[in-house]
Amino acid sequence: MSTRFLMCSAEYFSVDYVINPWMTGLIGKTLPALARKQWTDLYQTLNQMARVELIDPRPNLPDQVFTANAGLLHKNIFIPSRFRHRQRRLEEPWFLSWFESHKFEAVPIAEEIFFEGSGDALLQPGTDLLWMGYGFRTDLKARAFLEDRLPLRVLPLRLVDPRFYHLDVCFCPLLDGWAMYYPPAFDAESQRLLEAHIPPEKRIILSEEDARGFACNAVLIGKTLVMNQAGAGLQRALMDAGYRVEIVSVDEFIKAGGANKCLTMAIDDSESLLGSGWGRAA
Ligand code: ARG
Repeated sequence: MSTRFLMCSAEYFSVDYVINPWMTGLIGKTLPALARKQWTDLYQTLNQMARVELIDPRPNLPDQVFTANAGLLHKNIFIPSRFRHRQRRLEEPWFLSWFESHKFEAVPIAEEIFFEGSGDALLQPGTDLLWMGYGFRTDLKARAFLEDRLPLRVLPLRLVDPRFYHLDVCFCPLLDGWAMYYPPAFDAESQRLLEAHIPPEKRIILSEEDARGFACNAVLIGKTLVMNQAGAGLQRALMDAGYRVEIVSVDEFIKAGGANKCLTMAIDDSESLLGSGWGRAA
């Protein structure tokens, strides 16, 4: 299986507005040269293990760098995001045209539903289970839409801590039914839903410190996790579970509330799907 990722360079990245708690007080406070260097480190790290595609960055779209929020990709189907905040809605047409021009079939979400793509929708690898975060950005109503359009079971998880406003900042599904997550980011019922699907020996529970360091926001490639930060205990737990941890610090982007995984969108084996007739003809 070939893994590809979509990224968008940090040329126009900055904190220009406040739409999550991480951005508070940081308008104009990012360091552009450092942000570009950190982005390039991540790009080069991923490009050694996978192929990274690029979408052109646009001026005045400072959060476009977070390609995880472009939409949700499943095989050749692309469900574009409808952002909750008007500042990010301006990104929608650019992401849509990239996916359409790369032969994905766009299935627009119903007009009245907010949905923030793979920031809030994560597939449990090797299963037909899609975890969907809701409460801050994505609407619970997105669940029925996704189940209707995709051959997946969608399990909704209610997010309750505004610092963890997207699912991919507090939950990271791993291989063979494992997952790492930060339980206090979820309401009690959602914690029970997680526990019902992930047996105790397959749970890697994060400390608040690791969660604040965006450890859940890890990019999974094979059995490597590329992450911003992980304390010694977490690194040991991941190694014991068979993972290799590669730390690539992207703390300039945490000023905007995103890290490694937010800066990427996985485009898994779509190339072979295109080759096998799933996609539309070129
Ligand atoms: N500033 C961006 C926002 O609030 C950060 C997005 C982070 N992306 C993610 N997939 N969690 O929308």
